[in-house]
Order: sequence, then C-alpha cells, then structure tokens
Amino acid sequence: MPEGQDRHPEDPRPGPAWVSVCPAIALVDGGEGVRFDLVPQSGERSPIAAFVVRHKGRAFAYVNQCAHVPVELDWQPGHFFDEEGEHLICATHGATYRPHDGVCIAGPCRGRRLQSLDCEEHGGQIWVRSRNDERRRGE
Ligand code: FES
Repeated sequence: MPEGQDRHPEDPRPGPAWVSVCPAIALVDGGEGVRFDLVPQSGERSPIAAFVVRHKGRAFAYVNQCAHVPVELDWQPGHFFDEEGEHLICATHGATYRPHDGVCIAGPCRGRRLQSLDCEEHGGQIWVRSRNDERRRGE
C-alpha cells in the first residue's frame, strides 16, 4: 500500500483507516485483480499481501493467502480467476473459492475460506480496511 493512505470519507469510526487501493474502473468483472500490501496502522507487523477483484458487479478483497498452504493464490500477478471468470483459484494445487464469500468449494481445503477484508466502492475508488486491525483494537 502506498504512503499517504486516505481515510474513507464516509467512515466516522476511529481506528484503522480505510485505504484507497485502486480506481474502481481498474476492476473488470471476472478479470484481473489488483494486488496490494495492506500496511498495519500500528507498524508492528509486516505488510499483508492482499488483492481485490470484481465479481457480478461487486468488489471483494481478501488476504492473498491460500487456506490450504500459506502461499499466494495468483499464478501470475493479478490472475485470481479461473478461465470462466467465475471462481477464484489457487495456482499451487487448484483450490477453488467463491468470489463473494471466499469459501473453498473444491480442492484440498474444501470448506475453509480466504480471509476477507472490508471492501467498498466509493467516489470512483476501491476502499479496503483490514479486519485484523479491528480485532486488535478490541483486544
Ligand atoms: S496451496 Fe493452494 S491449493 Fe494448495
């Protein structure tokens, strides 16, 4: 995630900011996703590799880590969908995930899920916020 992350203009809550990831038009339905690093606000942890994709008109963001083995999903940067553009697929062993909720529906980790991030489209941008940071605040 680049420096100068912006707070989501309609988020009145304190704590970790929403960050602008990319222009909304950069995401094509069932097409390439956008990779980014989500930097924890506290600076205590390493950046989190993540990605955002569009499916059936909506944007969804996940930590870029397979539920089977902790490796990144994309076989080439940004290639998260299967050939039909219907499911997210892990390049390593082929785990297949539903784009809207990150649940694995086929492959070695069937029934498990990707770690989702809060994701909204606002003002022509895609905004993401880490749910990990929310948990940390409540600790
Ligand atoms: S590492 Fe993703 S399916 Fe095995």
